Amino acid sequence: MAVRVFHRVRGLREALAPARAMGRPIGLVPTMGALHRGHGSLISCSAEDQRPERGLTVVSIFVNPIQFDDRSDLDAYPQTPDSDLRLCGEAGADFVFAPSAREMYPDGFSTFVDAEGECLTKMCGAARPGHFRGVLTVVSKLFHIAQPTRAYFGEKDAQQLFAIKKMARDLDMDIQVIGRPTVREADGLALSSRNSRLSARERAAARCLVRALGEGRAIIEGNQEASADSAKKSMAAAIEAEALARLDYAEILDADTFGDVTRDTRKALLAVAAYFGETRLIDNMSADVCFREGSDGSR
Ligand code: PAF
Repeated sequence: MAVRVFHRVRGLREALAPARAMGRPIGLVPTMGALHRGHGSLISCSAEDQRPERGLTVVSIFVNPIQFDDRSDLDAYPQTPDSDLRLCGEAGADFVFAPSAREMYPDGFSTFVDAEGECLTKMCGAARPGHFRGVLTVVSKLFHIAQPTRAYFGEKDAQQLFAIKKMARDLDMDIQVIGRPTVREADGLALSSRNSRLSARERAAARCLVRALGEGRAIIEGNQEASADSAKKSMAAAIEAEALARLDYAEILDADTFGDVTRDTRKALLAVAAYFGETRLIDNMSADVCFREGSDGSR
């Protein structure tokens, strides 16, 4: 069946009402468009999850202006509406919600959702002031509009996923927030809508991100005596060695708390961000951490 497209909040709500009244689940996949196989995997996962109870999958496509701290980044954000619709249909979406900025933020809009705490003020929170406030505001609006049973996000945006899960928990949103693994190109580069903005040379250079993460992970997993600091330095050096890359951050945190790695950490998250020309890319990997018997826990 063809995907139905809605541009207005009211239209989507009316279309979802019968399924909701019958107790059927709704899966929501929030996106900013320029969809790729990574989004496709989120959409097909939602379609699979809702199928047994004859539920629906909604994909939202909205380039959210309030999560961009840089106007030129917003203006350059890729938009591919025709192929987006095709991909949504092929991956099993039922509805696409593609509102205008005015529909989402009408005149007089002045209510925002924000989160406090170090876990969101470092990494992307530090590099992009106001970014998570914009993300949490639009995602909570989408949650209220679609009232999904489950919502799907990529693990590539690990800090975003952490922030959204925390928001859902903190604000008692009765929504299952599901993270799905990063989809990669054959050479390991994480799929991102921003990859289309890279020149051929920048695209080749961008492989340093996954290389850096792999080196950091090998240090963490292969040598339990190694400190997070030495792995961090190795990741930064691998990125700085690439002439076309400009390092933004190379970090290692506790994957569960997003705080520092401590002796209680069992899974670490290695995260990097760098600019290639004007394009900023992020990536991450997790690593199992296991202290040796008698270790003092200093990492
Ligand atoms: O990850 C994205 O594409 C966006 O940050 C999201 C979650 C759709 C909110 O605009």
